[in-house]
Amino acid sequence: MNDVVDIAILGAGAVGQLICHQLVTAGMNVGFIGRNALRPSQQTLSFTPLVSANNCQQQPQEIHYSVPIFAADALDNIRLVIVCVKAYQVLDALAPLLKHLPSQCHILLLHNGMGPHLALAPLIDGQAGGRGLSLGTTSQGVLRQTRWQIKQTGQGLTQFGHFAGLPLDEHYRRALLHAIPGSEWVDAIIPCLWQKLAVNATINPLTAIHNCNNGTLAQPKFYDTISNILDELVNVATHDGISLDRHYVQERVYRVIELTAANYSSMHQDIAHQRRTEIDQINGYICERAKAHNLSAPANTKVWGLVKQLEAEHHRGIS
Ligand code: PAF
Repeated sequence: MNDVVDIAILGAGAVGQLICHQLVTAGMNVGFIGRNALRPSQQTLSFTPLVSANNCQQQPQEIHYSVPIFAADALDNIRLVIVCVKAYQVLDALAPLLKHLPSQCHILLLHNGMGPHLALAPLIDGQAGGRGLSLGTTSQGVLRQTRWQIKQTGQGLTQFGHFAGLPLDEHYRRALLHAIPGSEWVDAIIPCLWQKLAVNATINPLTAIHNCNNGTLAQPKFYDTISNILDELVNVATHDGISLDRHYVQERVYRVIELTAANYSSMHQDIAHQRRTEIDQINGYICERAKAHNLSAPANTKVWGLVKQLEAEHHRGIS
């Protein structure tokens, strides 16, 4: 068996650790890139699986396992980097690593929101040796309990697709689909990212602004705001050449509200913990694309501004 670690995850947040766990469980050799690590080390991770619906009496067993952490300049064997940092960190985290990654190493972005792929594609596309860029989105629910301890809170669809440069090698494609439950490879990933953007552009800012869990948004008083955000999103996407089924998009948002009713969205958690949010890459991205097409997007502009205000209040220490 080949024990060389050839898959690296950049970003050890909740999603990064969940993907790591799923790949390790499927027998793949995975490690994290330690952005400030000067020498290689090992880290023990803890994972609590989802309680299965027909076995809710039994406490799920916490699983512990160990993975390598690489120094950022020791990445010679890496053939696939899965980028799980926050959308606003992608460029700053990845650009300095590109010179340390082998020329045939493929990059896969997996984060909420949109935008970084546009800035990254030119850096990948023109590279000698044939680098490639794939994009993905996941709706799996996961909660980080302590720095290296996560708990899965929900199942969900994960979609991957090619975006620029050379396609991902078939071996890694198959391995990802085998390892990640409910995952699929799609021919056109951008429409899937817009559909996920619709979920994040409604649930995330509204739960942050109204300080509520996802399920609260099923109340009729939120209906018009959700509808207006989605009208604008679908219109902007159409001008970007992406045709979305308006009815289906709204149905999907309400299905996620129902399925994750007890959860607090990632943006709610970011505001609660006084962290920066991904609002610029979610509603901000919609507003920027609207501006590029000379369209107005008042509902998205409004929630974008309100969340920026919440971030600024925390920054100034007001609560
Ligand atoms: O960002 C999140 O929290 C999640 O993507 C979602 C689907 C909105 C559920 O909370």
